[in-house]
Amino acid sequence: MPYPVERMRRLRRTPGLRRMVRETRLTLDNLIEGHFVCPGEGVRREVAAMPGCAQMSIDVLVEECKRSFDLGIPAIILFGLPARKDATGSEGTSPGGIVPRAIAAVKEAVPDLVVWADVCLCEYTDHGHCGVLRGEEVDNDATLPLLARAAVAYARAGADGVAPSDMMDGRVAAIRTALDAAGCAQTPILAYAAKFASGFYGPFRDAAESTPQFGDRRGYQMDPPNAREALREMELDLAEGADILMVKPALAYLDIIRQARDRFDVPIAAYNVSGEYSMIRAAARNGWIDEDRIILEVLTSIRRAGADLILTYFARDAARLLL
Ligand code: PBG
Repeated sequence: MPYPVERMRRLRRTPGLRRMVRETRLTLDNLIEGHFVCPGEGVRREVAAMPGCAQMSIDVLVEECKRSFDLGIPAIILFGLPARKDATGSEGTSPGGIVPRAIAAVKEAVPDLVVWADVCLCEYTDHGHCGVLRGEEVDNDATLPLLARAAVAYARAGADGVAPSDMMDGRVAAIRTALDAAGCAQTPILAYAAKFASGFYGPFRDAAESTPQFGDRRGYQMDPPNAREALREMELDLAEGADILMVKPALAYLDIIRQARDRFDVPIAAYNVSGEYSMIRAAARNGWIDEDRIILEVLTSIRRAGADLILTYFARDAARLLL
């Protein structure tokens, strides 16, 4: 029964009708807001490449988290900037490091805000790679105990969950084993399972001051053309004990999100990364796009692709636009 009997435009005619047949809904429930925490007091340093994002000292972060929670944002994820970097990223794995202290402060001030902690060494190593080096290579197995130690420190500080983003093989199992042994069997792992070696992380490396001092991350992050390999990565992380699987970045990888949603029966997360954020901010500042409209369109597309959770720097904008 094609045209003129069937007319697709009938259900698009009014806002009321469109509202009733909408297939995908974006709500604040799914969002995790990214934050960068740095040493000091009263510090708020805007990140040039990410307008609207700032490196914040713990006291400032706590105030921002209160505001986020009051606006209806249910969760945050923390990235730390240490006072000092070294070859093994010691501050990232120490219970007295910047992130455990930030977690404790935020959980005390806003106990019901869900706090995730990113687990990786790149922000804490002086060479900027995600693990310890042997020569010019990242030593996979030597990195695992350090990641496990970091995860335990964050869980003990009160994190609601840990999110390894390093892409070492076997890190989910190492972290799960260490958490269980430390009495943190209830702490979930959100695994950056399919993390691609992407140009879209550029602005983040500015924010987290984590640019590799030599080489790049292609030896451990995934090659962008590979979809089947992404599914294998996710399958392995699931088998090792991941509770949530994440695809990163989101927009150039919506096909991977969809395949993950269809294949695995655990929550799927997607990371709307810094480059995806900065491009929109930059174009909007030039008056080239309708920023609010595009923020909602992009976040909705990630949901439509199949993501249950979205990590994003647009959480405040979403809160403003959705309420
Ligand atoms: C690594 C990490 C990165 C991001 C989150 N965790 C950067 C990288 O792999 O270089 C990127 C996030 C973003 O671009 O928003 N610990």
